[in-house]
Amino acid sequence: MIVIRVMHRVPAYLLTAGLALFTAPGPAEDTDDLVIRCEICHGQDGNSVLPIFPSISGFSYEGFLYTMGEYRENRRIAIEFQQPNEPETVMINIAQQLSDADLKGLANYFSKRKYIPRSQAFDPELASRGAILHERHCERCHLQNGTEPADDSPILAGQWTPYLRLQFKNILSGKRLVSRRMSNRLKKLNQEDIEALLNFYASIK
Ligand code: HEC
Ligand code: HEC
Repeated sequence: MIVIRVMHRVPAYLLTAGLALFTAPGPAEDTDDLVIRCEICHGQDGNSVLPIFPSISGFSYEGFLYTMGEYRENRRIAIEFQQPNEPETVMINIAQQLSDADLKGLANYFSKRKYIPRSQAFDPELASRGAILHERHCERCHLQNGTEPADDSPILAGQWTPYLRLQFKNILSGKRLVSRRMSNRLKKLNQEDIEALLNFYASIK
């Protein structure tokens, strides 16, 4: 587990570069200027090329605002479990520098970008097991096999597997708080089920 964490640790220079650009809180900023800074980590148009950074092009407007609000209010991750500048807390620092107007501009921008599913290796057998689990437990909120965002439910299909695996871990350990309707579903699954779902989401191009 430790090896995986280190492997997916974000290069220090990237975090420092990304954060340094967010240290001056001030009046609402031009959305295009902000977008350039997000793209340092989240890739062009929010389609990430690094597996630890999620793609953010696939959110609905409401879902984007909700998620950024969770970071800003320090609800998305229990910061005391992390070292400063760990990849999991970097978004809290960033979101706390942004005004409501900034967030609305960014939500508008990223919710209109084209989401490009990431091309990843997967095990076809696990993926077909995952398809059944998804249909039974997840499709109600993560629509069309997880390819369509609903109001506050993000796209799962084609999202980076290492990122999603970390989110499963954080949600199941209670470190990332989500609605009980969602966490109750996840608690019904075992580790094998989760791997099957991860392979299913990786299989959708
Ligand atoms: C220094 C790198 C870095 C920069 C710069 C950055 N992010 Fe992030 N972002 C991350 C990491 C790492 C995560 C995953 C954090 C987690 O586990 O919750 C993330 C997660 C997110 C998520 C949640 C994605 C999901 O699927 O739930 C959103 C939305 C987001 N970032 C938006 C932004 C926006 C908007 C900007 C620019 C204002 C930005 N980020 C700038 C590193 C960065
Ligand atoms: C009742 C609706 C609902 C159901 C059912 C549901 N989810 Fe979710 N899911 C959500 C919402 C809403 C979020 C965003 C939560 C947040 O950030 O607070 C979410 C977030 C997630 C995330 C984090 C994604 C990211 O980009 O960070 C994963 C992974 C996930 N769900 C997987 C699943 C799986 C797998 C199932 C089925 C076993 C499932 N969900 C069932 C509503 C649901």
